[in-house]
Amino acid sequence: PKPIDELIVQETGLVSREIFVDEDLFKQELSHVFARAWLFVAHEDQIVKNGDYVVSKMGTDTVIVTRDMEGEVHVLLNTCTHRGMRLCRNDMGNARTFSCPYHGWSYSMDGRIVETPGDLAGVPGHATYYHGELDKKDWGLVRAPRVKVYKRTVWASWDPDAPEFEDYLGDMRQYLDFALDGRDGSPGNNEMIGGILKWRVPSNWKFAPENFIGDNYHDISHRSVDLVGINPSGGTGRRDEEPDEVTTLGFPKLGHGVIGEMPYFEEPEFQPQWQGNPEVAEYYRRCHEQRVERFGDQPRVSMTVGTIFPNMSFHGRQPRTIAVFHPISPTEMEMWRIFLVDRDAPDAVKDMARHYHLSYSGPGGLTESDDMENWSYATDSSRGEISRSIYFNYEMGLGHAREVPHLEGAVENGVFTEENARIFYKRWAEFMKAGSWDELHPGAGPGPDRRRAAEPT
Ligand code: FES
Repeated sequence: PKPIDELIVQETGLVSREIFVDEDLFKQELSHVFARAWLFVAHEDQIVKNGDYVVSKMGTDTVIVTRDMEGEVHVLLNTCTHRGMRLCRNDMGNARTFSCPYHGWSYSMDGRIVETPGDLAGVPGHATYYHGELDKKDWGLVRAPRVKVYKRTVWASWDPDAPEFEDYLGDMRQYLDFALDGRDGSPGNNEMIGGILKWRVPSNWKFAPENFIGDNYHDISHRSVDLVGINPSGGTGRRDEEPDEVTTLGFPKLGHGVIGEMPYFEEPEFQPQWQGNPEVAEYYRRCHEQRVERFGDQPRVSMTVGTIFPNMSFHGRQPRTIAVFHPISPTEMEMWRIFLVDRDAPDAVKDMARHYHLSYSGPGGLTESDDMENWSYATDSSRGEISRSIYFNYEMGLGHAREVPHLEGAVENGVFTEENARIFYKRWAEFMKAGSWDELHPGAGPGPDRRRAAEPT
């Protein structure tokens, strides 16, 4: 492939189709992006009790996210250090020990048995066949050196030099908080509705976070949600009816972005489809009052959808969800969806949210179906010898970004713009070129002890 600066031409807003189909660039993404960035790996509702675990992904690696017997969270590579057998083949469960089915090595999650949960505890024939010479402490599971539990979500990075998670988020954190806090503003008030949805899409993974970072322009694709009346805005799909306060906000130095709203959550969260349910409508009205009481006149952010670089997107207003896009190959990804609701919401609200979220997004949801079709065909029609040699156009709004005084390092560029997509690919190019975190986040410094487990926030 061409040099990165010829693939992403920032001055003109051009992006080469090669980055969506090329095998060598895909391999470089795995080492330069996915082995360095902070990645979403789990929700705490998947690991409630000590010993609970859930199998997740970081890039193309599978990991076990587990809560040890003291309640701390670890992220461990899901492969036996002896001969590579996949250690855990369940999706989730509860285990004090993981035993390898191949030759029987076992790894303990109990700090009373091993020095650090995840260490090698048992080796059949250790005293006899190994003559007591195998040093078990050298052969524990490989662990992600950086783990962060943030408002019930779990994140990890393979790079010990990655900046602190809060620094990685910057002021984008306020928008993530909006999705993870309760509707009344109570910190971290969220729970998963049911389980997680997982499915494969024949699309390059980048199409999805690029879409969620601020592509209002594709609203024409979602005419169906207007026609059946489940558009969150209750809108008609007409672009001239977008409220003035909606804008795209991006963080050029961080690669994150959001479709945000200013000034701030002035109305109770409104959804046309639940106005017929007095209990649900009353719940959101009460939440709004409590929110106003909590924050007073303080400026607060509100948002519909955004992306944390590289592969996690989220909806803040209903449907309140987390989406993750795992790379499988240049032309295939695995999508995950988690739906969120206030933990203390009445059953009627949780039930309404479950129905609404499933009809809106996820593999059977109306909007996701529209999007997957676009991304899959765009990927497939970029594979050909001629088509891969040309460029996509991202010039909408180029040169029209404005600074946002109340958000550090942020720019905004109106409702319809490709500013945030340019920000996403600019950051992608920086990761692809950088040799270390020093170049990506100057002053981040060496990370804490590789063995540190997560402290809940
Ligand atoms: Fe796991 Fe041999 S591969 S014990």
